[in-house]
Amino acid sequence: MDIHASTASPAVIRRSDYRAPDWLVPDIALRFELDAALTTVRATLSVTRNGQHDRPLRLDGDGLVPLEVRVDGRVLDQAEWHLEAGALILTLPNDAHQVETLVELAPERNSKLMGLYASGGLLCTQCEAEGFRRITFFPDRPDILSRYSVHMSAAKARFPILLANGDPVEQGEGDNGRHWAVWNDPYPKPCYLFALVAGDLACNADRFVTMSGREVQLGIWVKEADLPRTAHAMQALKNSMAWDERVYGREYDLDVFNIVAVADFNFGAMENKGLNIFNSRYILADPDTATDIDYDGVEGVVAHEYFHNWSGNRVTCRDWFQLSLKEGFTVFRDQNFSADMGSHAVKRIEDVRILRAGQFPEDSGPLAHPVRPESYMEISNFYTATIYNKGAELIRMIALMLGPERFRAGCDLYFDRHDGQAATCEDFVRAMEDGGGIDLGQFRLWYEQAGTPRVRALMAHDPASGTVELALTQSVPPTPGQPEKQPMAIPLRVALFDRATGTHHGDELLKLTQAEQRFTFPDFAAAPVLSINRDFSAPVIVDSDRSQADLAFLSAHDDDPFARYEAMQQLMVNVLVGRIGGQSADDAAVVDAIRHTLTDSTLDPAFVAEAIRLPSEAYLGDQMHMVDPDAIHAARDALQHRIGAELEPLWRDIHARLRANGFSLSPAAKGARKLRNAALHYLVASGAADGPAIAFDQFSQADNMTERQAALGTLANGESAERIAALDIFYNRYRADPLTLDKWFQTQAFAFHPGTVDLIEELGRHKDFTLTNPNRVRALYGAFSGNQWAFHHRSGKGYRLVADCILALDPINPQTAARLVPPLGRWKRFGPERAGLMQAELRRILDRPGLSKDVLEQVRKSLD
Ligand code: ARG
Ligand code: ZN
Repeated sequence: MDIHASTASPAVIRRSDYRAPDWLVPDIALRFELDAALTTVRATLSVTRNGQHDRPLRLDGDGLVPLEVRVDGRVLDQAEWHLEAGALILTLPNDAHQVETLVELAPERNSKLMGLYASGGLLCTQCEAEGFRRITFFPDRPDILSRYSVHMSAAKARFPILLANGDPVEQGEGDNGRHWAVWNDPYPKPCYLFALVAGDLACNADRFVTMSGREVQLGIWVKEADLPRTAHAMQALKNSMAWDERVYGREYDLDVFNIVAVADFNFGAMENKGLNIFNSRYILADPDTATDIDYDGVEGVVAHEYFHNWSGNRVTCRDWFQLSLKEGFTVFRDQNFSADMGSHAVKRIEDVRILRAGQFPEDSGPLAHPVRPESYMEISNFYTATIYNKGAELIRMIALMLGPERFRAGCDLYFDRHDGQAATCEDFVRAMEDGGGIDLGQFRLWYEQAGTPRVRALMAHDPASGTVELALTQSVPPTPGQPEKQPMAIPLRVALFDRATGTHHGDELLKLTQAEQRFTFPDFAAAPVLSINRDFSAPVIVDSDRSQADLAFLSAHDDDPFARYEAMQQLMVNVLVGRIGGQSADDAAVVDAIRHTLTDSTLDPAFVAEAIRLPSEAYLGDQMHMVDPDAIHAARDALQHRIGAELEPLWRDIHARLRANGFSLSPAAKGARKLRNAALHYLVASGAADGPAIAFDQFSQADNMTERQAALGTLANGESAERIAALDIFYNRYRADPLTLDKWFQTQAFAFHPGTVDLIEELGRHKDFTLTNPNRVRALYGAFSGNQWAFHHRSGKGYRLVADCILALDPINPQTAARLVPPLGRWKRFGPERAGLMQAELRRILDRPGLSKDVLEQVRKSLD
């Protein structure tokens, strides 16, 4: 054995190295003898030489040992094949052969949750991005499209249900209590979309009739006891199918569509053809255990995976550098679907909040990468907010510039042109140009350049001529590997408001394409107020010289809900940044704007709840060059207290008035709960003596998890007998329900409480904590590392706890471990003492021999 193997650098894969495959695999037949301890997989591949060359056939493998290799029926002897970095290498004489391999797997020992693994008595698969090579030898790259036939056999008592992609074609009984089933998928697909599930599952069965009148059998498969919690997912599925027909003209293409929920899953869900596999947290929901956010998460993720059937499966990715081709587009599609199901205004605000919380920090840190990356060590590390959420913003800008009809024409052309193909981001952009009639030449930079562009907007009014001049300058910050940037094409929606009337003369789409550009607007007797980047038309940071008075004006008058929200946020940010800098800030402006918003009866309560929310501590940190977590926390806490105290009667009134009678998921009921929870939060923050009692009362009386968890979260921030009692009650009530017990961990990890960091240490040793379930890990350590004040405790203990978790988790589940690294990588922004402590933890991780390449890549980049 090569003793340097573990210290050698894993290879870097580059986009520019793409080459068409040497061999194609038009058909594959798989035979699984399933068993949790020992499964055998026999794969028969028809392979054809692609072009004229004499290169060998290379079948990727990860941890596989070939027990038998056959070519055209003949068993090869050991000298006729060899393994190279896990891959099986065969030299083949002709242009077409049949290659057969036999391997053994141990699903119950697969803790990485990639490939075939066991979860709660089920056997299931996860192949994206490179998990199929852990199941069988195969050219594991998305541009190899094959027709699959899958034969599964298993003990009938333990695994009565056998599912795979496509349509069921045959089933029968075997010997020794075993049974079998065959599924065929007529649509050629890349191996990352392969899936099978075996287990004791119950089905919520329904049907959907497509626009051309075909009947599709729908099934959501869960443990029997969870059946009552599947109704919302089923409704979301049917709504998604109808929506994709109505909005994109896209119809479902198989006779069955199945979804399976599993408890152990590395991320949200997976769009395997005809057989989506879900993290159970995005399927199961009922009022007692799911919050409104959870319900929306179920709806959004069910839609996302369903929409992949066209944007991802029918048209897939040529290579993993094109990941945003399917993910950015599909996020854009699911965002618009959810907006149509609920409120456009609130959904847009939520999506921007998510982008700013997850993607902006990524784009300004050591892990920044373009929407179409140039290189990677481990592709799993590139399932990022940049690929997903910034990718969605790119599609949104194209859609905005084209308008709905031309955007639809571009999409139609894209699907027509590339159906059945493995395509590139460039193919998508070209289809938009050809189908929509637009030149996206400069726009392509959005795929190439990392970093969030900054736009500075200065407005000048000349009373003599009555003209307004808007001077816009843009810059894109340097990012790793990209010191120099070119100006981007930035679509900015603007409106100029008349101060006297609170109205404007129409919204305009400005196209900023140069480093500096001036736009003039005639006929303004008085200086207007600038509303810019309305509806967040471009994913940029806007700096403007608007006064607090102008922002207050917009927070009361802007007819674009996002811009109105944004004005309010900026007003708050300005006050908080002032406070953090030690200046006496004008809190009254914020209090007045909130009062005004609360008492405007024309506004949707869900919007009000968003608008009056203070910017998060992390977002405030992002506004500052050097982040001082303690000062940020103190400033925000003080402002919250002031808002709570000054508007106390309003909070009491809202909280009492919005008490519901009976649970409903109507937008009105959800909005009322959201605002009621915000009111409770401010009421408790006011320091009112009865605050904890009111929160405890809400906690005890609630007939739904939205109010119960909000009350618990509010109590968790303070010190009270009610805090201890509520956490105890919650634990005892939900200890047997893992998804809900996650909330108990998460609420404590999120708490603004001086003891949080010590509590995390305790909870990490709790008997219900486990490293083998990704949801539980995220609920504790993922949530904690997003709690800026607690994670950045000056002792450095937060860093140590997260690093300990990464080290312990890496050998078990490297993908999930790697996801905990980025918060430690933000050391440059946190002052020399914290930076030193964070770097020390990163180095401690790096020193561990045998680190996975997942963690290695993230830690190395984070230290740069
Ligand atoms: N394609 C899946 C989705 O977006 C996610 C797959 C994530 N894979 C990974 N290795 N992180 O729905
Ligand atoms: Zn996706």
